[in-house]
Amino acid sequence: MKFAGYSLGVSFAPIGSNVFAKSFRFPIVGSIYRGNLRSSRLFSASCWREQSNGKNGVVAKQYLPPWFSVAPMMDWTDNHYRTLARLISKHAWLYTEMIAAETIVHQKDNLDRFLAYSPDQHPIVLQIGGSNIENLAKATELANAYCYDEINLNCGCPSPRVAGHGCFGVSLMLDPKFVAEAMSAIAANTNVPVSVKCRIGVDDHDSYDQLCDFIYNVSSFSPTKHFIIHSRKALLNGISPAENRNIPPLKYEYFYGLLRDFPDLTFTINGGISGINEVNAAREAGAHGVMLGRAAYNKYLL
Ligand SMILES: Cc1cc2nc3c(=O)[nH]c(=O)nc-3n(C[C@H](O)[C@H](O)[C@H](O)COP(=O)(O)O)c2cc1C
Repeated sequence: MKFAGYSLGVSFAPIGSNVFAKSFRFPIVGSIYRGNLRSSRLFSASCWREQSNGKNGVVAKQYLPPWFSVAPMMDWTDNHYRTLARLISKHAWLYTEMIAAETIVHQKDNLDRFLAYSPDQHPIVLQIGGSNIENLAKATELANAYCYDEINLNCGCPSPRVAGHGCFGVSLMLDPKFVAEAMSAIAANTNVPVSVKCRIGVDDHDSYDQLCDFIYNVSSFSPTKHFIIHSRKALLNGISPAENRNIPPLKYEYFYGLLRDFPDLTFTINGGISGINEVNAAREAGAHGVMLGRAAYNKYLL
Protein backbone atom coordinates (compact mmCIF):
# COMPACT_ATOMS: atom_id res chain seq x y z
CA MET A 1 0.00 0.00 0.00
CA LYS A 2 1.24 3.47 -0.77
CA PHE A 3 0.98 6.74 1.10
CA ALA A 4 -1.66 9.15 -0.04
CA GLY A 5 1.04 11.77 -0.41
CA TYR A 6 -1.53 14.18 0.90
CA SER A 7 -0.71 16.79 3.48
CA LEU A 8 -3.67 18.44 5.10
CA GLY A 9 -1.47 20.90 6.94
CA VAL A 10 -0.88 23.00 3.88
CA SER A 11 -4.56 23.46 3.20
CA PHE A 12 -5.44 24.59 6.69
CA ALA A 13 -6.51 28.19 6.88
CA PRO A 14 -6.24 30.38 9.99
CA ILE A 15 -8.61 29.87 12.87
CA GLY A 16 -12.14 30.78 11.96
CA SER A 17 -15.36 31.34 13.83
CA ASN A 18 -17.54 29.12 15.98
CA VAL A 19 -17.09 25.47 15.09
CA PHE A 20 -20.02 24.41 17.18
CA ALA A 21 -22.38 26.96 15.67
CA LYS A 22 -21.38 25.87 12.18
CA SER A 23 -22.25 22.30 12.91
CA PHE A 24 -25.93 23.33 13.11
CA ARG A 25 -25.94 23.74 9.35
CA PHE A 26 -25.83 20.05 8.63
CA PRO A 27 -29.06 18.35 7.62
CA ILE A 28 -30.37 15.60 9.86
CA VAL A 29 -29.55 12.24 8.35
CA GLY A 30 -28.57 10.57 11.58
CA SER A 31 -27.97 6.94 12.22
CA ILE A 32 -30.49 4.62 13.79
CA TYR A 33 -30.03 4.13 17.47
CA ARG A 34 -31.36 1.10 19.24
CA GLY A 35 -30.49 1.25 22.86
CA ASN A 36 -30.75 -1.21 25.66
CA LEU A 37 -33.98 -1.44 27.59
CA ARG A 38 -32.45 -2.45 30.90
CA SER A 39 -32.52 0.86 32.71
CA SER A 40 -33.62 1.76 36.17
CA ARG A 41 -31.19 4.48 37.12
CA LEU A 42 -31.90 8.13 37.65
CA PHE A 43 -29.98 9.54 34.72
CA SER A 44 -30.89 6.82 32.31
CA ALA A 45 -34.59 6.80 33.13
CA SER A 46 -35.45 9.09 30.24
CA CYS A 47 -33.52 6.79 27.94
CA TRP A 48 -35.86 4.00 28.95
CA ARG A 49 -38.91 6.22 28.40
CA GLU A 50 -37.82 7.26 24.94
CA GLN A 51 -37.24 3.71 23.89
CA SER A 52 -40.35 2.27 25.45
CA ASN A 53 -42.63 4.77 23.70
CA GLY A 54 -42.31 3.25 20.27
CA LYS A 55 -43.46 0.24 18.38
CA ASN A 56 -42.09 -2.95 19.95
CA GLY A 57 -40.82 -0.82 22.79
CA VAL A 58 -38.05 0.74 20.73
CA VAL A 59 -37.87 4.16 19.13
CA ALA A 60 -35.32 4.85 16.42
CA LYS A 61 -33.41 7.82 17.74
CA GLN A 62 -31.83 10.01 15.09
CA TYR A 63 -28.58 11.86 15.36
CA LEU A 64 -26.32 13.47 12.88
CA PRO A 65 -23.41 11.19 12.04
CA PRO A 66 -20.26 12.00 14.03
CA TRP A 67 -19.04 14.63 11.57
CA PHE A 68 -17.79 16.68 14.45
CA SER A 69 -16.82 15.36 17.85
CA VAL A 70 -15.17 16.50 21.05
CA ALA A 71 -12.33 14.20 22.11
CA PRO A 72 -12.16 12.15 25.29
CA MET A 73 -9.96 14.07 27.73
CA MET A 74 -9.23 12.83 31.24
CA ASP A 75 -10.25 15.35 33.90
CA TRP A 76 -11.51 17.71 31.20
CA THR A 77 -14.51 16.17 29.43
CA ASP A 78 -16.33 15.45 32.66
CA ASN A 79 -20.07 15.83 33.17
CA HIS A 80 -19.77 19.59 33.75
CA TYR A 81 -17.81 20.26 30.60
CA ARG A 82 -20.07 18.04 28.51
CA THR A 83 -23.14 19.86 29.77
CA LEU A 84 -21.58 23.13 28.68
CA ALA A 85 -20.50 21.68 25.33
CA ARG A 86 -24.04 20.48 24.68
CA LEU A 87 -25.40 23.97 25.34
CA ILE A 88 -23.02 25.24 22.67
CA SER A 89 -23.59 22.50 20.12
CA LYS A 90 -26.69 20.45 19.56
CA HIS A 91 -25.04 17.89 17.31
CA ALA A 92 -21.40 17.41 18.27
CA TRP A 93 -20.66 13.90 19.47
CA LEU A 94 -19.28 14.10 22.99
CA TYR A 95 -16.82 11.58 24.41
CA THR A 96 -16.43 10.78 28.07
CA GLU A 97 -13.06 10.75 29.76
CA MET A 98 -11.49 7.31 29.55
CA ILE A 99 -12.79 5.02 32.26
CA ALA A 100 -10.81 1.86 32.99
CA ALA A 101 -12.82 -1.32 32.58
CA GLU A 102 -11.53 -2.43 35.97
CA THR A 103 -13.01 0.67 37.59
CA ILE A 104 -16.44 -0.10 36.15
CA VAL A 105 -16.25 -3.74 37.17
CA HIS A 106 -14.96 -3.11 40.68
CA GLN A 107 -17.34 -0.22 41.30
CA LYS A 108 -20.42 -2.02 40.05
CA ASP A 109 -22.43 -0.92 43.09
CA ASN A 110 -21.41 2.68 42.58
CA LEU A 111 -21.79 3.04 38.84
CA ASP A 112 -23.72 6.31 38.75
CA ARG A 113 -20.60 8.05 39.97
CA PHE A 114 -18.70 6.97 36.88
CA LEU A 115 -21.32 6.44 34.18
CA ALA A 116 -24.37 8.62 34.85
CA TYR A 117 -24.91 11.73 32.73
CA SER A 118 -27.71 14.05 31.81
CA PRO A 119 -29.79 12.74 28.87
CA ASP A 120 -29.18 16.11 27.19
CA GLN A 121 -25.65 14.95 26.47
CA HIS A 122 -26.67 12.54 23.69
CA PRO A 123 -25.06 11.70 21.33
CA ILE A 124 -22.41 10.57 23.75
CA VAL A 125 -19.67 7.95 23.49
CA LEU A 126 -18.27 6.03 26.44
CA GLN A 127 -14.54 5.52 26.16
CA ILE A 128 -13.18 2.57 28.07
CA GLY A 129 -9.62 1.42 28.60
CA GLY A 130 -8.20 -1.95 29.48
CA SER A 131 -6.47 -5.06 28.33
CA ASN A 132 -8.39 -7.75 30.17
CA ILE A 133 -11.02 -9.08 27.80
CA GLU A 134 -13.27 -10.40 30.53
CA ASN A 135 -13.30 -7.02 32.27
CA LEU A 136 -13.83 -5.13 29.00
CA ALA A 137 -16.83 -7.36 28.26
CA LYS A 138 -18.24 -7.03 31.77
CA ALA A 139 -17.71 -3.26 31.84
CA THR A 140 -19.55 -2.92 28.54
CA GLU A 141 -22.41 -5.00 29.85
CA LEU A 142 -22.63 -2.92 33.02
CA ALA A 143 -22.62 0.29 30.95
CA ASN A 144 -25.62 -0.85 28.90
CA ALA A 145 -28.01 0.52 31.49
CA TYR A 146 -26.70 4.01 30.77
CA CYS A 147 -27.56 3.97 27.07
CA TYR A 148 -24.37 5.39 25.60
CA ASP A 149 -24.55 5.79 21.83
CA GLU A 150 -21.23 4.14 21.06
CA ILE A 151 -18.51 2.33 23.00
CA ASN A 152 -14.93 3.32 22.19
CA LEU A 153 -11.74 1.52 23.15
CA ASN A 154 -8.70 3.62 23.98
CA CYS A 155 -5.72 2.43 21.92
CA GLY A 156 -3.89 5.75 22.00
CA CYS A 157 -3.01 6.72 25.55
CA PRO A 158 0.77 6.88 26.06
CA SER A 159 0.71 7.55 29.81
CA PRO A 160 3.26 5.25 31.50
CA ARG A 161 0.58 4.26 34.02
CA VAL A 162 -1.61 3.07 31.16
CA ALA A 163 0.70 2.04 28.30
CA GLY A 164 3.54 0.89 30.55
CA HIS A 165 2.46 -0.73 33.77
CA GLY A 166 -1.19 -1.04 32.72
CA CYS A 167 -0.24 -2.39 29.30
CA PHE A 168 -3.20 -0.87 27.58
CA GLY A 169 -3.83 2.40 25.73
CA VAL A 170 -1.40 2.77 22.85
CA SER A 171 0.48 -0.45 23.72
CA LEU A 172 -2.50 -2.30 22.32
CA MET A 173 -1.54 -1.12 18.83
CA LEU A 174 1.31 -3.61 18.95
CA ASP A 175 -1.17 -6.49 19.13
CA PRO A 176 -3.93 -5.97 16.55
CA LYS A 177 -5.25 -9.52 16.90
CA PHE A 178 -5.78 -8.94 20.61
CA VAL A 179 -7.58 -5.66 19.89
CA ALA A 180 -9.84 -7.50 17.43
CA GLU A 181 -10.64 -10.04 20.13
CA ALA A 182 -11.29 -7.31 22.68
CA MET A 183 -13.52 -5.39 20.28
CA SER A 184 -15.48 -8.55 19.49
CA ALA A 185 -16.05 -9.09 23.21
CA ILE A 186 -17.14 -5.48 23.66
CA ALA A 187 -19.48 -5.64 20.66
CA ALA A 188 -20.97 -8.90 21.89
CA ASN A 189 -22.07 -7.14 25.06
CA THR A 190 -23.74 -4.07 23.61
CA ASN A 191 -26.29 -3.16 20.97
CA VAL A 192 -24.61 0.09 19.99
CA PRO A 193 -21.72 0.58 17.54
CA VAL A 194 -18.16 0.16 18.72
CA SER A 195 -15.09 2.15 17.70
CA VAL A 196 -11.36 2.39 18.31
CA LYS A 197 -9.32 5.53 18.98
CA CYS A 198 -5.66 5.03 18.17
CA ARG A 199 -2.44 6.75 17.16
CA ILE A 200 -0.64 6.17 13.84
CA GLY A 201 2.07 4.14 15.55
CA VAL A 202 4.24 3.58 18.60
CA ASP A 203 7.99 4.24 18.83
CA ASP A 204 9.65 2.65 15.78
CA HIS A 205 6.53 0.62 15.04
CA ASP A 206 5.46 3.55 12.93
CA SER A 207 5.29 2.67 9.24
CA TYR A 208 2.14 3.17 7.22
CA ASP A 209 2.09 -0.57 6.49
CA GLN A 210 2.07 -1.35 10.22
CA LEU A 211 -0.82 1.05 10.71
CA CYS A 212 -2.67 -0.65 7.85
CA ASP A 213 -2.00 -4.03 9.42
CA PHE A 214 -3.60 -2.79 12.66
CA ILE A 215 -6.67 -1.40 10.89
CA TYR A 216 -7.01 -4.46 8.67
CA ASN A 217 -6.89 -6.94 11.53
CA VAL A 218 -9.19 -5.02 13.85
CA SER A 219 -11.78 -4.31 11.16
CA SER A 220 -11.64 -7.80 9.64
CA PHE A 221 -11.80 -9.81 12.84
CA SER A 222 -14.20 -7.68 14.88
CA PRO A 223 -17.29 -5.58 14.17
CA THR A 224 -15.25 -2.34 14.41
CA LYS A 225 -15.92 -0.10 11.44
CA HIS A 226 -15.13 3.33 12.89
CA PHE A 227 -11.60 4.43 13.76
CA ILE A 228 -10.55 7.75 15.27
CA ILE A 229 -6.99 8.45 14.24
CA HIS A 230 -4.86 10.74 16.39
CA SER A 231 -2.49 11.43 13.52
CA ARG A 232 0.82 11.30 15.37
CA LYS A 233 2.65 8.36 16.85
CA ALA A 234 3.27 7.89 20.56
CA LEU A 235 6.72 7.73 22.10
CA LEU A 236 7.05 5.43 25.09
CA ASN A 237 10.46 6.78 26.09
CA GLY A 238 9.36 8.50 29.25
CA ILE A 239 8.14 11.82 27.88
CA SER A 240 4.96 13.08 29.50
CA PRO A 241 1.48 12.57 28.03
CA ALA A 242 1.35 16.31 27.30
CA GLU A 243 4.66 16.13 25.41
CA ASN A 244 3.31 13.10 23.58
CA ARG A 245 0.54 15.33 22.27
CA ASN A 246 3.04 17.83 20.85
CA ILE A 247 6.46 16.34 20.12
CA PRO A 248 5.74 13.52 17.65
CA PRO A 249 4.94 15.23 14.34
CA LEU A 250 1.48 15.09 12.87
CA LYS A 251 1.30 12.94 9.75
CA TYR A 252 -2.08 13.58 8.22
CA GLU A 253 -0.95 11.76 5.11
CA TYR A 254 -1.35 8.49 7.05
CA PHE A 255 -4.97 9.39 7.79
CA TYR A 256 -5.73 10.16 4.15
CA GLY A 257 -3.94 6.97 3.13
CA LEU A 258 -6.37 5.02 5.31
CA LEU A 259 -9.34 6.80 3.74
CA ARG A 260 -8.10 5.70 0.36
CA ASP A 261 -7.07 2.16 1.28
CA PHE A 262 -10.06 1.19 3.43
CA PRO A 263 -13.02 2.67 1.58
CA ASP A 264 -15.56 0.57 3.51
CA LEU A 265 -14.53 1.92 6.90
CA THR A 266 -15.30 5.20 8.65
CA PHE A 267 -12.42 7.40 9.79
CA THR A 268 -12.38 10.42 12.06
CA ILE A 269 -9.30 12.63 11.97
CA ASN A 270 -7.83 13.98 15.19
CA GLY A 271 -4.76 15.90 16.29
CA GLY A 272 -3.76 19.53 16.01
CA ILE A 273 -7.00 20.78 14.50
CA SER A 274 -7.81 24.14 15.97
CA GLY A 275 -10.46 26.00 14.03
CA ILE A 276 -13.56 25.84 11.88
CA ASN A 277 -11.64 26.38 8.66
CA GLU A 278 -9.51 23.36 9.45
CA VAL A 279 -12.58 21.29 10.29
CA ASN A 280 -14.17 22.24 6.99
CA ALA A 281 -10.93 21.58 5.08
CA ALA A 282 -10.68 18.09 6.55
CA ARG A 283 -14.29 17.33 5.68
CA GLU A 284 -13.81 18.65 2.16
CA ALA A 285 -10.72 16.46 1.83
CA GLY A 286 -12.86 13.42 2.60
CA ALA A 287 -12.61 12.87 6.36
CA HIS A 288 -15.81 11.23 7.55
CA GLY A 289 -15.47 12.92 10.91
CA VAL A 290 -13.32 15.51 12.64
CA MET A 291 -12.49 15.35 16.34
CA LEU A 292 -11.17 18.29 18.35
CA GLY A 293 -9.61 17.97 21.76
CA ARG A 294 -7.67 20.87 23.24
CA ALA A 295 -9.18 23.49 20.94
CA ALA A 296 -12.72 22.48 21.86
CA TYR A 297 -11.84 22.85 25.53
CA ASN A 298 -9.52 25.84 25.57
CA LYS A 299 -11.33 27.89 22.95
CA TYR A 300 -14.80 26.46 23.20
CA LEU A 301 -16.25 29.45 21.34
CA LEU A 302 -13.82 28.97 18.47
C1 LIG B 1 -6.03 16.71 29.26
C2 LIG B 1 -6.15 15.66 28.19
C3 LIG B 1 -6.61 14.41 28.52
C4 LIG B 1 -6.75 13.43 27.54
N1 LIG B 1 -7.33 12.23 27.88
C5 LIG B 1 -7.59 11.31 26.90
C6 LIG B 1 -8.35 10.14 27.17
O1 LIG B 1 -8.85 9.92 28.28
N2 LIG B 1 -8.55 9.26 26.14
C7 LIG B 1 -8.05 9.49 24.88
O2 LIG B 1 -8.27 8.66 23.99
N3 LIG B 1 -7.37 10.60 24.60
C8 LIG B 1 -7.14 11.52 25.56
N4 LIG B 1 -6.51 12.68 25.25
C9 LIG B 1 -6.06 12.91 23.86
C10 LIG B 1 -7.16 13.65 23.08
O3 LIG B 1 -8.34 12.86 23.01
C11 LIG B 1 -6.69 13.97 21.64
O4 LIG B 1 -6.45 12.76 20.96
C12 LIG B 1 -5.42 14.80 21.63
O5 LIG B 1 -5.50 15.88 22.54
C13 LIG B 1 -5.14 15.32 20.21
O6 LIG B 1 -6.20 16.12 19.76
P1 LIG B 1 -6.14 17.74 19.81
O7 LIG B 1 -4.87 18.16 19.11
O8 LIG B 1 -7.37 18.19 19.09
O9 LIG B 1 -6.11 18.15 21.24
C14 LIG B 1 -6.37 13.68 26.20
C15 LIG B 1 -5.89 14.96 25.89
C16 LIG B 1 -5.80 15.95 26.85
C17 LIG B 1 -5.33 17.34 26.46
